[in-house]
Amino acid sequence: MVRQMELSGFGGPERLVAREREVPGPGTGEVRIRVEASGVAFAEVQMLRGRYPMQPRFPFVPGYDLVGRITAVGPEVAGLAPGDRVAAMPRTGAWADEVVLPASEVVPVPAGVDSGDAVALVTNGVTAWQLAHRSAPVGPGQTVLVHGATGGVGGLLAQLCRQAGATVVGTASEANQEALRAEGVVPVDYRSPDLTERLRRHAPHGYHAVFDHLGPRSVARSRALLAPGGRVVSYGSAATLRDEGGPLRPYLRMLGGLLWWNTLGEPRLTRRRRVSLYYVRPGRRFREDLGTVLGLLAAGTLTPVVHSRHPMSRAADALRILSRGGVHGKIVLVADQERGT
Ligand SMILES: NC(=O)c1ccc[n+]([C@@H]2O[C@H](COP(=O)([O-])OP(=O)(O)OC[C@H]3O[C@@H](n4cnc5c(N)ncnc54)[C@H](OP(=O)(O)O)[C@@H]3O)[C@@H](O)[C@H]2O)c1
Repeated sequence: MVRQMELSGFGGPERLVAREREVPGPGTGEVRIRVEASGVAFAEVQMLRGRYPMQPRFPFVPGYDLVGRITAVGPEVAGLAPGDRVAAMPRTGAWADEVVLPASEVVPVPAGVDSGDAVALVTNGVTAWQLAHRSAPVGPGQTVLVHGATGGVGGLLAQLCRQAGATVVGTASEANQEALRAEGVVPVDYRSPDLTERLRRHAPHGYHAVFDHLGPRSVARSRALLAPGGRVVSYGSAATLRDEGGPLRPYLRMLGGLLWWNTLGEPRLTRRRRVSLYYVRPGRRFREDLGTVLGLLAAGTLTPVVHSRHPMSRAADALRILSRGGVHGKIVLVADQERGT
């Protein structure tokens, strides 16, 4: 029997309950993994409030990503063996003591790195890497704006942009301004009444790229801050958590906005300033990029901030903390000691 943390319906963290279930396998092409660490994501807060666009049906086991050790391999699995430590992004199901996944979805974790640090890089690290190196390639001499620059994704993104040689302006709450400064980021409080003016002052000729996780209203402002040829990459709708209406609404608004910003509105400028959407997807490129960011972690080049670690059995505490906000870095669930892991 395997313990899984299950979300039973909309509401608060109290909707999370521990269940024991039989998990068959591994079948052909699958591996069984004992979970050492899994991530707590903003997506789970959105799912609890019915604000996630690809809302799974209740009950389900949340858990976007994990790091763990293979305990058994099924038939026709090559190159993996019991004892290997691997990372994966199943998108749901990782808040469990053990999982069974296709072997094709796992990526080896380098020796010597902590599983909690590694899991902070699975979804968030690949997202940050792909934003900075694929969606809007950042380079020396550029000035870029990272919203939520002390968040799980934003913190890594700010590091990667600085390493690429860019000047990084980052937004965060007042409590996190000093942390940003210490990381070499130009801090701006997102609650400033004159936010747009302040952001403009730091890049009078406009930003080469703006990375925006807040949703359509913010993207409209971000676009107005671009330099000619610049790009806004929108990768979330965090600011719509308390909005009314269905969870798809911000995305439909965003698609309408994209049509206007990129094709119909201001035709003379549209060839020069663009808005694009980003979504992290599993697949070959994801595995390649996960291998890259885990390599950077092992080399000490990319350092995730882990806000706090909680035993899997206390996952509700972790959700509560994330729901309250003001978190600096990633919240991680780790295996319960008493379960012998
Ligand atoms: N598209 C994708 O593939 C993808 C992948 C991963 C994550 N995401 C999305 O990206 C978003 C961020 O995820 P995360 O894990 O990094 O979340 P997180 O760790 O909770 O970080 C969110 C950050 O946003 C900041 N923030 C809150 N309100 C803000 C505002 N009005 N203006 C600017 N910043 C604000 C917070 O700063 P303070 O703590 O200082 O208040 C915090 O640093 C979520 O919406 C998530 O769903 C998308």
